[in-house]
Amino acid sequence: MKDKYLALDLAFQEAKSWLENLDKNTTPTKTDREQLLAKLMMAMPEYGTCAEKVVKHLVNSCKDGLLPSPGGKFFAWVIGGGLPSALASDWLTSSWDQNAALFTSGPAASAVEEVTGGWVLELLDLPRQSSFAFTTGCQLAHFTCLSAARYRVLEENNWDVGEDGLFGAPPIRVFTSEHRHGSVDRAIRYLGIGNKSLQAIQTNKNGQIKVAEFEKKIKEHVGPKIIVLDAADLNIAAFDNFSRLIPIAKEHNAWVHVDGAFGLFARASARTKKLTEGIELADSWATDAHKWLNVPFDCGIAIVKDQEAHRNSMTMHASYITPHKTARDQIDWTPEWSRRARGIPVYAALMELGKNGVADLIERCCDHCKLFVDEIEKLPNTEVIWRPTLNQGLVRFVDPKGKTNADHDFYTKQIIDSVNKTGEAFFSDSRWDGKLVMRMSVVNWQTTKEDIKQVVKIFEKILVETA
Ligand SMILES: Cc1ncc(COP(=O)(O)O)c(C=O)c1O
Repeated sequence: MKDKYLALDLAFQEAKSWLENLDKNTTPTKTDREQLLAKLMMAMPEYGTCAEKVVKHLVNSCKDGLLPSPGGKFFAWVIGGGLPSALASDWLTSSWDQNAALFTSGPAASAVEEVTGGWVLELLDLPRQSSFAFTTGCQLAHFTCLSAARYRVLEENNWDVGEDGLFGAPPIRVFTSEHRHGSVDRAIRYLGIGNKSLQAIQTNKNGQIKVAEFEKKIKEHVGPKIIVLDAADLNIAAFDNFSRLIPIAKEHNAWVHVDGAFGLFARASARTKKLTEGIELADSWATDAHKWLNVPFDCGIAIVKDQEAHRNSMTMHASYITPHKTARDQIDWTPEWSRRARGIPVYAALMELGKNGVADLIERCCDHCKLFVDEIEKLPNTEVIWRPTLNQGLVRFVDPKGKTNADHDFYTKQIIDSVNKTGEAFFSDSRWDGKLVMRMSVVNWQTTKEDIKQVVKIFEKILVETA
């Protein structure tokens, strides 16, 4: 009899080959939309195809359109890769295919997530009584934490948002950094608070909210307040001054939430933890396991000190589901109903690395980012815009024949594109201080010192050729 799971063997071989060749197979621009669609587009099949053929078809159609983002020479955005145990357990998670909504529908998944949540609190040294949820990403972690915030700040103003909704509710004002990530705005939108309620506060030259201005602004608003602070903004990894800002916020009865999509992991290393001083005074924290912890997509983590607010804003009951008396039912803490047991790969990653291994990963990435910026600076026509204080650096390339900012913007983009075209490494651009810049983001467990040196050589060649 034919093995009914033959397609899995095929997928395994293909996956291994992809991972083993990540270093070589780095060209992201081999194909374009038309070529991809030409391979994938067909009339919706009337009849089925055997599973192995489906897998082969997908591999052949997609292989030229895959970015080498799990690899060690991918420095664009803040992506991260997949640690072997995390990836392997992610496969198991799919194969076990548990509905991790309830203990009764996935007992082991519930137990794994219960343990993992405790480990995360310990690793990040956040209040141990906090509740947590494994979400799809930091976006939904913001949504989860800010739902709890909305519940609590309105409840303190004698308003039950769960029952009465937002129409007629006391208006909530959200104070945040001008450099906040767009996912904060979107969470505020999802929550019906509305982006007009967001008040962006100016930052200093280090990208941190100005304390005096913060105090002045929040004093002006009478009524429910939520503050969103940065634990590493996406460009320069700026950490707000938690020790100064949070006590002020607390004096004004505000809920303080922290966007720590990758920066919260700075707490895992004694060397970088000081950047986050005072962060433990906040009320909620959102982070990602799929960034710096190198768990495959998708996995965010919401952490909320006020368990009651968290649970009341998420919990769900229905006649056909059986809440467990003592075990963890994830449906009480997450915005989803049916869900994947995405805490399992986090458990695996934390077990594979241990506290020491996470600290080492964080420190290595920071060292590699610094090395890159130090070496790039020695090359012609380069300007360092941000020297890394964590794992993010900003660099700009100065057009030797140009005079204006626009010329340098164009030249910077041209250099980034040329490097990406070599297929040896991948970078992305951003804007900082009115300038187009190249971001250097190091979050991958696979990046080595040698990778950095090789990548610097590529820049050297291109900069010399274009000078
Ligand atoms: C600082 C920051 N916050 C939030 C997010 C959103 O995270 P996710 O894409 O996991 O939802 C990102 C994503 O890049 C980020 O860099």
